[in-house]
Amino acid sequence: MEIPNQEPMIPSQAGQYILIVDDNSTNLNFLSRTLTNAGWEIAVATNGAMAIQQVKNNPPALILLDVMLPGSDQLETCKKLKANPDTQDIPIIFTLLSEAVAQFTNLPLGVVDYITKPFESEELLARVRVHLEVRSLTKSLEEKKQELSATMQKLQAAQKQIMAQEKLATIGALTAGVIHELKNSLNFVNNYAQGSVELSDELLEEIDNQSENLETEAVDHIKESLNELRENVVVMNQQGQRAESIIQNMLMQARTDDNQFQLTDLNSLLDQAVRLTYQSRRAQDNRFNIKINTDYDDSIEPLELISSELSRAFINIIDNACYAIRLKQKYYQEQGNKKSSKFNPKLWVKTQNLGEVVEVRIRDNGIGIPAEIQKKIFQPFYTTKPTGEGTGLGLSLTYEIIVDQHRGILQLDSQPGVYTEFIIRLLAPS
Ligand SMILES: Nc1ncnc2c1ncn2[C@@H]1O[C@H](COP(=O)(O)OP(=O)(O)O)[C@@H](O)[C@H]1O
Ligand SMILES: [Mg+2]
Repeated sequence: MEIPNQEPMIPSQAGQYILIVDDNSTNLNFLSRTLTNAGWEIAVATNGAMAIQQVKNNPPALILLDVMLPGSDQLETCKKLKANPDTQDIPIIFTLLSEAVAQFTNLPLGVVDYITKPFESEELLARVRVHLEVRSLTKSLEEKKQELSATMQKLQAAQKQIMAQEKLATIGALTAGVIHELKNSLNFVNNYAQGSVELSDELLEEIDNQSENLETEAVDHIKESLNELRENVVVMNQQGQRAESIIQNMLMQARTDDNQFQLTDLNSLLDQAVRLTYQSRRAQDNRFNIKINTDYDDSIEPLELISSELSRAFINIIDNACYAIRLKQKYYQEQGNKKSSKFNPKLWVKTQNLGEVVEVRIRDNGIGIPAEIQKKIFQPFYTTKPTGEGTGLGLSLTYEIIVDQHRGILQLDSQPGVYTEFIIRLLAPS
């Protein structure tokens, strides 16, 4: 075998060959023949500098380093390789004369082994195999460790979301309490307002009766003021009643413990969910403005439903739709005004009596859902929204409510960038 003294042979694949660093032709012949016969690819370097260059260009799986190589300090070469994070994991086996072993019993840090001259092919191959095996095990261990830490991170993120959800639930409970209190106060306001209207009427009547005893001018003036007062109180009463009905709706939503199936008017449940969701989106963002197209089939008979739960499912779907629309709107706004003026944000809500089943369709012309994401959206914790804006629990909950609880069907149809439609089918009473 010829000793290559200029450039080492460069095998094709990094990490797939053994680098022999030696300048003695007998040693080189033996080492390269034994390893090649055993099926390994090899490369040869005849000095330390060449070896380092070769390792840099194309890192080997293992290095056989002649520690007695004259003219250069091989311990230095070894240290350099071990100091570089790119090469420190490559096992190095020292080759040395048996008499020299005593000198190297304290092998430098990171050198894994040595073999002595004269070489034995069995021993050489056994050691090479062991070290390659150890290295590959270490590598796969490292990979497993990384996988594990990635899983841990996911778990921690999930835990954070659960905690956020828990907090929301507490806030929900608090809100329900506050709402009860408000409801009581409102009741007073409304009752007193009604009383005041009646009182104004009585006063007006009294003034009419007493008009002969009073100056005409004074009568006119008092009547005018009283009428104004009456009108004010009427408005107060109307607004108070409106607030009361909003609170009534919210209480219906908040009630979680009455998991009872009850005959429910689907259209009004859905319409309430639409209004509530839209109003709360608007309350968060006053630039949010969409056209809502409703089409309710009046022939639908009352259905046996758990209204608080189904309403929650509708709210989730509608809220996602509002979000998708807002996202598209923002995107267009960033692109400049031309396109954004063409985009008419729309939500369609439609119910249909199909005989044995009742169908609800909720459709938006928002960003749509790409096919690869469609598969995942019903999984708990799957969300494409930034932290704080989504928990990824909405649709998994919705699925549970519609499919598991109500024995219904939940389907999805979407064209990315164009529309998303959720189709819900519920059994009609037979
Ligand atoms: N109408 C929709 N348009 C576009 N994407 C949607 C729509 N509805 C749901 N998605 C996608 O499904 C994901 C999961 O929804 P969901 O379970 O409600 O969790 P969240 O709303 O907290 O992200 C959303 O993050 C979004 O990527
Ligand atoms: Mg959601």
